[in-house]
Amino acid sequence: MIAIQEKNIPADKISIAPMLDWTDRHFRYFLRFICHRPVFYTEMIASPALILGQRDELLKYDPSEQPLVLQVGGSDPSQMSDCAKFAEDYGFYAVNINAGCPSSRVQSGQFGAILMKTPERVADCVASMCSKVKIPVTVKTRISLVQAGGDGFDQLFRFASLVFDAGCRHLIIHARQAKLNISPKENRSDRLPLNYDVVYRLKKSFPDLFITINGNILSIDSISTHLKHTNGVMIGRWAYGNPYALKDIDRLFYHDDHPVLSRFEIMERMIPYLFDNQKHLSVILPHLMGLFHGQPNAKNFKKTLMTRDLNEIQRMIQFGLSHFEED
Ligand SMILES: Cc1cc2nc3c(=O)[nH]c(=O)nc-3n(C[C@H](O)[C@H](O)[C@H](O)COP(=O)(O)O)c2cc1C
Repeated sequence: MIAIQEKNIPADKISIAPMLDWTDRHFRYFLRFICHRPVFYTEMIASPALILGQRDELLKYDPSEQPLVLQVGGSDPSQMSDCAKFAEDYGFYAVNINAGCPSSRVQSGQFGAILMKTPERVADCVASMCSKVKIPVTVKTRISLVQAGGDGFDQLFRFASLVFDAGCRHLIIHARQAKLNISPKENRSDRLPLNYDVVYRLKKSFPDLFITINGNILSIDSISTHLKHTNGVMIGRWAYGNPYALKDIDRLFYHDDHPVLSRFEIMERMIPYLFDNQKHLSVILPHLMGLFHGQPNAKNFKKTLMTRDLNEIQRMIQFGLSHFEED
C-alpha cells in the first residue's frame, strides 16, 4: 500500500469505482481537476482482450490520472498473471481482479460475480499474479451470492481468508449480495439490500487486510462514518452523476490544500483536451453532464454540451451560463 509520505495517509482511503463505459480515460482526466488524491480505477478489461487485443490503446492513460488501478476480468491464473505484468509494465499503481460484477456477459466468460462460487480459483489467480509483480494485487467483490443463504458473512470470511493467504492485502467489498441471472442494474437496486455491517464485521476479523467499502455512498458525512469502521471508501455512481461534490475530498480526507477550481475553471481546462480529442466528443461530453448537477443553470449547461460545438461551449465559458437563455 503506497502511503502519501508526508502525511502517512493511504492513497486508497478514497477511490472512484470502476464503471464500464463511464470511468474511461476521458472521465478520469476530467475528474482529476476536481480531486487529486483519490485512487482511480479503469473500467474492467477482460484478460483475453489485454493479451490478444490492442493493449497500448486499452491501457492508455494520462499521467495525471495516477494513482490508477487496472481492473481485470478473468479467472485463468496464467492469463491473469500476464495481465498483472502488463499493469506493472504500464505503470499502474495496482492491479485489481473483478470478482463481483454480475453481468451475464461477464458470467459467460467465467469472471465477475460467478467467481464467488469458486474462491479457490480467485486465490489461485492472486497467488499467480503476486508471484509475477511487485505492485499490489487487489480484489473487488460483493458480500456473497444470494443463493449461498444467510447474510453472507461466512462466505465472505472464507473468501477473504483464501485471498489473504494467497497474497492479497486489499479487498474492496460492494456491501450487497449478488444474484446471478438478473441484470447488473437490478443487482444494484433495493432488490439486494445493502448490508454495511457485514463489511464492518469482516474488518474486525482481518486487522491486517485493508478493507474498502462500496455501495451507495452519497455524501461526505457517510464517507466519514464508514471510515470509522473500514480503511477505505469507494464511490461509484455519485462521482459520475455529481462529480463536483468531490471537490473537498483532498482537503477533508488527505489534508491536501490543493486549490479548488470553480466549475468554469474546470471547463476552461477541459477545452484544449476537447479540441485535441474532437473525434471522441460523443464519448467525452456525456461525462461532463453532471458538472453543474443541482445548479440553477444545469439544464443550459447540458444543452450547450449537447450541441457538440466547441465554439459554442467556449462561448458559454467566456460569457457564463446565464448568457444562454432557458427555453
Ligand atoms: C455503469 C456502471 C458500470 C460498472 N462497471 C463495473 C466494472 O467494470 N467493474 C466493477 O467491478 N464494477 C462495476 N460497476 C459497479 C461499481 O464499481 C460499484 O461497485 C457499484 O456501482 C456500487 O457502487 P455505487 O453505489 O457507489 O455506485 C459498475 C457500475 C455501474 C453503475
